[in-house]
Amino acid sequence: MSLDIVVLAAGQGTRMRSALPKVLHPVAGRSMLGHVIHSARALSPVGIHVVVGHGADKVREQLQAPDLGFVTQAEQLGTGHAVAQALPVLAADTVLILYGDVPLIQVDTLQRLLTRVSDTQIALLTVTLDDPTGYGRIVRDDQGKVTAIVEQKDASVAQQAIREGNTGILAVPRVRLAQWLSRLSNNNAQGEYYLTDVIAMAVADGLVVATEQPFDAMEVQGANDRRQLAELERHFQHREALRLMAAGVTLRDPARLDVRGSVTAGRDVLIDVNVIFEGEVVIEDDVHIGPHCVIKDSTLRKGAVIKAYSHLEGAVVGEGADAGPFARLRPGTELGPRAHVGNFVELKNAHLGEGAKAGHLSYLGDARIGARTNIGAGTITCNYDGANKHQTVMGNDVFIGSNSALVAPVALGDGATTAAGSTITQDVPAGELGVARGRQRNVQGWSRPVKKPKA
Ligand code: UD1
Ligand code: CA
Repeated sequence: MSLDIVVLAAGQGTRMRSALPKVLHPVAGRSMLGHVIHSARALSPVGIHVVVGHGADKVREQLQAPDLGFVTQAEQLGTGHAVAQALPVLAADTVLILYGDVPLIQVDTLQRLLTRVSDTQIALLTVTLDDPTGYGRIVRDDQGKVTAIVEQKDASVAQQAIREGNTGILAVPRVRLAQWLSRLSNNNAQGEYYLTDVIAMAVADGLVVATEQPFDAMEVQGANDRRQLAELERHFQHREALRLMAAGVTLRDPARLDVRGSVTAGRDVLIDVNVIFEGEVVIEDDVHIGPHCVIKDSTLRKGAVIKAYSHLEGAVVGEGADAGPFARLRPGTELGPRAHVGNFVELKNAHLGEGAKAGHLSYLGDARIGARTNIGAGTITCNYDGANKHQTVMGNDVFIGSNSALVAPVALGDGATTAAGSTITQDVPAGELGVARGRQRNVQGWSRPVKKPKA
């Protein structure tokens, strides 16, 4: 069975009160439409076609990818009309309809739905709710067979009492779908071409309507306003927390964790409260992460420790290395095994060798630092001359005295030392001491200035 997926994303989303098209609003750092496309891809369809309308240019621009097609629905005349716009580009046996503002739909639910569609059967995802207000209702006959969907605004009082609602997600044989869509009318309470009318047409043509339900109603929850968006966000985060705990992670509070990207974690990892992960983060076994850290696109090797209030982006923290509290590791930072970075230390494009230390208040940019080298408090690599960036290279077992300014390009050999307060502008050979500061002179009998008497 070949599959085409149509994602409806043309609606305005007035209740978001936003200049951003609704489907571009993010859940967990990825647009709602991006989530839907991600799930769609997992089904290996022959085509994914996004129906765009309001904010079409922005949506196209943000999501364009070689495997995506965009179809414009100039006027939003209803869900049936929206799907009809995509028909000319569909070619597969089966068409699955998804929604750009229903981001949490799970791949396994869709797979389950797709097992139910055939030439003689359409597959409909429904959801039973305590309060189905706003949903189309699933109408069944005496034998429990689905006969129609009736929209809330067209429903009789008796039909409004039905608690089984239409999620809107359905899988249909393509050739049939084309026939039914061509026969839709907008003679209803909203004056729209309803996709849901194809259900009664299918039944009239002798097809069976099979139904499935999601495991979790939040999977089919859409976001029409920012409150619902926040509900989806919390639900997503809850799911991520459960997944991490199942993998062997202790979360000090599962409700105070935010994953905006993908996190893979090993066993016996400990994550304290209010940690935010972004992009691709890999956490190996026995890593501890303190509270209030932001960790983006980074790898934390076995036993690494990140202390409170640290900010990492594009960093690799080696086995047993530690950073923080208040460490800032910027892109290109690599801490070797058991390296140590203390408070108020910023690294950018800098490698700290095995066991090397930068304990306090330093900026290390464009630097290669050997094993066991010790960087004193207040050390600055002066890597930028106002036009270009230059490298600082240090060998093994170097000792940089406190408050040294290392003016790059500059190199320090193995075992070199700099005196505290030095401004190092020339290379320091292996084993030598570089001193570059005014010599101390003590003035005997020095008397301090005294205040002038007031006139
Ligand atoms: C629709 C269903 C309803 C279902 C509900 C679930 C129909 C007629 N009704 O109702 O049975 O219970 O979803 O949320 O299908 N869209 C377009 N172009 C259009 C109209 C809509 O792209 O011309 C998109 C919207 O952006 C939205 C989705 O389709 O993502 C659903 O449209 P909406 O108008 O919200 O449908 P509902 O009235 O909620
Ligand atoms: Ca809706």
